[in-house]
Amino acid sequence: MSGAELKEAYGRMAVARRIAALREVVAGWKRAGERVGVVPTMGALHAGHMALVEAARRDCDRVVATIFVNPKQFNRADDLASYPRQEANDAAKLAEAGVDLLFMPPVDEVYPQGFETKVSVPDLSNCLCGLARPGHMDGVATVVAKLFLMTAAERAYFGEKDYQQLLVVRRMARDLDIPAEVVPVPTVRDADGLALSSRNALLTPEQRAQAPVIHRTLSAAAGKLAAGETVAEVLAWGRAGLAAGGVEKLDYLELRADDSLEELNGLDRPARLFVAGWMGAVRLIDNVAVPAKT
Ligand code: PAJ
Repeated sequence: MSGAELKEAYGRMAVARRIAALREVVAGWKRAGERVGVVPTMGALHAGHMALVEAARRDCDRVVATIFVNPKQFNRADDLASYPRQEANDAAKLAEAGVDLLFMPPVDEVYPQGFETKVSVPDLSNCLCGLARPGHMDGVATVVAKLFLMTAAERAYFGEKDYQQLLVVRRMARDLDIPAEVVPVPTVRDADGLALSSRNALLTPEQRAQAPVIHRTLSAAAGKLAAGETVAEVLAWGRAGLAAGGVEKLDYLELRADDSLEELNGLDRPARLFVAGWMGAVRLIDNVAVPAKT
């Protein structure tokens, strides 16, 4: 690897902060016929992110991880300001996991003065988290389109924890003829079922103790649906259980088709239960699969 840009390195892993440096490295790999995978993140890495890296390592010759706290997908300034940043720690974890190149651009490298284009996938975005957080999914689609084009990766790894995001970026790549295959990775959870998230660190000990109610409720609700209870009954039961269990405000608890995100009243096709709720100032999301009834 060459270029002053790449001098900052952690063992075998190089760090690029400029798009040109990233492109130069990737071009070398491609000339050698190597298959490139990308793992986009916003840092503050935990075992959920590392599962994406492991999947990429298994499938690809080279792995690029990206860390970029994307201002366009935050609809609250306080949320952007308080988002955890721990570069050196993250870089060490990625190097240890066998990442070849860490791309960590400054904001003005991604959005230089005069940047104007927006990528939008409206139908998949205008529900669930897209509705609760206006502009969020467009911000994600825009930055991920750019990351796909910058890295020219053949495969891109996304967690099922953010299931709507996974569908949005997959559709975006298909619609724009960007040849990156979007590979889903199952949600990594703590032993008590809570989906790992950078935001879990912001929970008080009491809230952390209550938070497993979210996954417990989703799992039990999926079981009730499989056992033949109606969708309306199960959702009402779930909403009551979440409120009693410490979820102070619920953004949504919904059953939707697992490909189109169409809202469902029955199990005539593969579905997922989606939840987003607040514990104090922390917003937690989760989802589980609900198989179609044959
Ligand atoms: P971030 O929240 O850092 O998540 C990066 C990736 O890790 C996403 O694909 C997310 O779904 C996955 N992930 C997070 N928690 C997980 C868990 N518990 N199990 C499995 N995967 C998990 O999502 C983003 O960043 C951003 O929106 C991004 C795609 C980077 C665009 O800015």
